[in-house]
Amino acid sequence: DKVVLAYSGGLDTTAVIPWLKETYGYEVICCCIDCGQGEELDGLEERARLSGAAKLYIEDVVDDLCENYIMPCVQAGAVYEHKYLMGTAMARPTIAAKLVEIARKENAVAICHGATGKGNDQIRFELGIKALAPDIKVIAPWRDDRWQMDSRQAEIDYCKAHGIDLPFGTDQSYSRDRNIWHISHEGLELEDPSQAPNYDHMLVLGVTPEKAPDEDVELTINFEKGMPVSLNGKKMKVSDIIRELNTIGGKHGIGIVDIVENRVVGMKSRGVYETPGGTILMEAHQQLEELVLDRDTIALKKDLGSKLASIVYEGKWFTPVREAISAFVDVTQQYVTGEVKLRLYKGNIIKAGTTSPYSLYSESLASFTTGDMYDHHDAEGFITLWGLPLKVRAMRMNELKKE
Ligand code: ARG
Ligand code: SIN
Repeated sequence: DKVVLAYSGGLDTTAVIPWLKETYGYEVICCCIDCGQGEELDGLEERARLSGAAKLYIEDVVDDLCENYIMPCVQAGAVYEHKYLMGTAMARPTIAAKLVEIARKENAVAICHGATGKGNDQIRFELGIKALAPDIKVIAPWRDDRWQMDSRQAEIDYCKAHGIDLPFGTDQSYSRDRNIWHISHEGLELEDPSQAPNYDHMLVLGVTPEKAPDEDVELTINFEKGMPVSLNGKKMKVSDIIRELNTIGGKHGIGIVDIVENRVVGMKSRGVYETPGGTILMEAHQQLEELVLDRDTIALKKDLGSKLASIVYEGKWFTPVREAISAFVDVTQQYVTGEVKLRLYKGNIIKAGTTSPYSLYSESLASFTTGDMYDHHDAEGFITLWGLPLKVRAMRMNELKKE
């Protein structure tokens, strides 16, 4: 029988290969899924084979992630607990779908992942797999009693004992997860919320605002039906726009978030996220929506966006409720077409003008010169009715006070 292993090439997932063979007698199909983590993938093939894998797939899912998972969340304005742009949460269902696809191709009976028993990722991988392939067995070594390794050294020793002698450095760094959208940092000093983050040591995608250039930079992003289509006048696919925005945004100190968030499994956890490009893209998209969406749609979208954030964070991507919210959001994006200009300056995103052929903004209505469309006297009757319940209640309260 075969098992598909979500493989990164790191020590943890390398030690899993001999463990799966020994514990289950499975043939191990490694699958390295490229979500834009920017790691060297050369030499991975050899590494997997030396570790005893039967086969290695290297799968680039960056465009799938950007177009089918990230953009629906951007369009919905989905942000978890007001701050987290969900880079990890959106990548997990993308990865789960690819693992299932390969498991089917290989006729595998199981899928194995290296997430721990304390986090959200195990939930996201496994709910994704259950939804897409309910018959496939899931193996999570970190939760398995037969997994006896409790330190990096134990893993290295285990590998050596199984004839795998590969260079693995001692890793005294943060626990990180990187993809095209973000990098997350957890662990070390962050585990104590009273401590300031050691940004100099930590940041990967950019700098803190005080280290950003003294000169601002201006950007122009064009959207068509809610999708970004060009940056500074140049047509690009979404993933390239995000990459470019990461570079510019990182340089200008954009999108660094330090949050204590509530994990699904009950505990709070402290993390720092760098989402430079994503922060700009979300802001730009929202800036355009301000102009083209009506008030009621904006209000409902806000509620559903926050609902979607919880759903995605909790691993429920492949569910009817997520699809229904996405369908609503799709309809709202029909007229989200136009041009957004922004300036970046030391961690700030400053509006520099928005235009759209579908703008609902009417300068003559908003300005103080009264036109035909708006008679100030109409406001009087409107306020009489709008304020009626307040007035009735206030009068009643006054009577009661006198009694
Ligand atoms: N806390 C974030 C989340 O739940 C980030 C998790 C990072 N994952 C990791 N394997 N380091 O989405
Ligand atoms: C893990 O525990 O595997 C990473 C953190 C998380 O999933 O929340």
